[in-house]
Amino acid sequence: MNKSIVSHKVRDMQPSGIRVFFDLVLGMKDVISLGVGEPDFVTPWHIRESAIYSIEEGYTSYTSNKGLVKLRAYIANFLKKKYGLDYDADEEILITVGVSEGLDLAMRAIFDPGDEILICMPSYVSYGPVAALAGGSPKFISLAQKDGFKLTPEILNRNIGPRTKAILFNYPCNPTGVSYTKKELGALNKILEKHGIWIISDEVYDELTYDFDHTPFSTLAGAKERTVYLNGFSKVYAMTGWRVGFACGPKDVIAAMTKIHQYTIMCVPITSQMAACEALVGPRKPIEEMKREYHRRRDFVVDRLNEIGLPCHKPQGAFYAFPSIKKTGMSSGDFATRLLKEKKVALVPGTAFGPEGEGYVRISYATSFSLLKEAFDRIEDFLKKKHLQTKSRG
Ligand SMILES: Cc1ncc(COP(=O)(O)O)c(C=O)c1O
Repeated sequence: MNKSIVSHKVRDMQPSGIRVFFDLVLGMKDVISLGVGEPDFVTPWHIRESAIYSIEEGYTSYTSNKGLVKLRAYIANFLKKKYGLDYDADEEILITVGVSEGLDLAMRAIFDPGDEILICMPSYVSYGPVAALAGGSPKFISLAQKDGFKLTPEILNRNIGPRTKAILFNYPCNPTGVSYTKKELGALNKILEKHGIWIISDEVYDELTYDFDHTPFSTLAGAKERTVYLNGFSKVYAMTGWRVGFACGPKDVIAAMTKIHQYTIMCVPITSQMAACEALVGPRKPIEEMKREYHRRRDFVVDRLNEIGLPCHKPQGAFYAFPSIKKTGMSSGDFATRLLKEKKVALVPGTAFGPEGEGYVRISYATSFSLLKEAFDRIEDFLKKKHLQTKSRG
């Protein structure tokens, strides 16, 4: 008998719904993709140049496991200046391979078997599988459009149980674009504090918040001692391919995460760390320009969606819109597949982010303004055609 060597835990894991869908896109010509979750901008030149220069100067070695001392100091200064946060560069900050590694390390460092972690759905695709691989028991909290896809104190209270050890919180959120005001976060924090629940806070889109200032969870009263704050350079600085992120948290948790990181990763590549240094201390103008452009696109996308009859709450951050396609009578999968085949526009079925995503699609506006315009004309055409078909049948 041909017995698979692959462990049960991995065999049972579903492949990412985004990947499955985008395998369809491969090989198709003239497709406008509103599917990818990464900036359409190239990393600003001054950052690329500093990396090239560091190679010319011979910076090609390992760094400290925790990451370059200089980079950790810059992060500490940046967080202090921007958010008033105090993290010790030596003991409370770890440089990771993107937020992705930070998520994995944080969960592996804190879970014992049976520990439950709350995950708000729809969510970024990796949370559930990574939590399960780390030995935790993910408990999914369904959020609905009627609540603006927001976690409210009532919903949170209802979902806390005796085994709840942590919550994985992401804002601005991929895929809904939802974010939270300081007041909203404060109300959630009070409940989490009462139950002694830890927060793994994925704030990778922090600076891409459009309607109010971003509040890091660890700035809330009493929250810093129970929060692992994750952030990185991928989105805000258009540096997805460099793979640099950072984790900040209490000493013992960062030390535990560092232990795993030192055996599995050693350190983030030095060239990428050099580039990240420049991102933090170099000119802010290119970063501000990208943010302004996302904001302009956000307004365009929301207006266009409402104009063509796909209702959408206003995303407050990141670069995603999550409109309802329920009125079309199609499932998310059918809508996305037909739109791709008939109009060559690729977007992601909401179900890629959990069953709560049925009836929705994710549109990424990390795409040039002119392509966005063209894509929306095609979607409008598609909807008109679909409407005519429904009429002629009925
Ligand atoms: C919410 C969220 N967290 C983490 C990541 C991964 O980020 P990184 O490139 O820093 O690993 C992504 C990427 O799409 C994301 O959307």
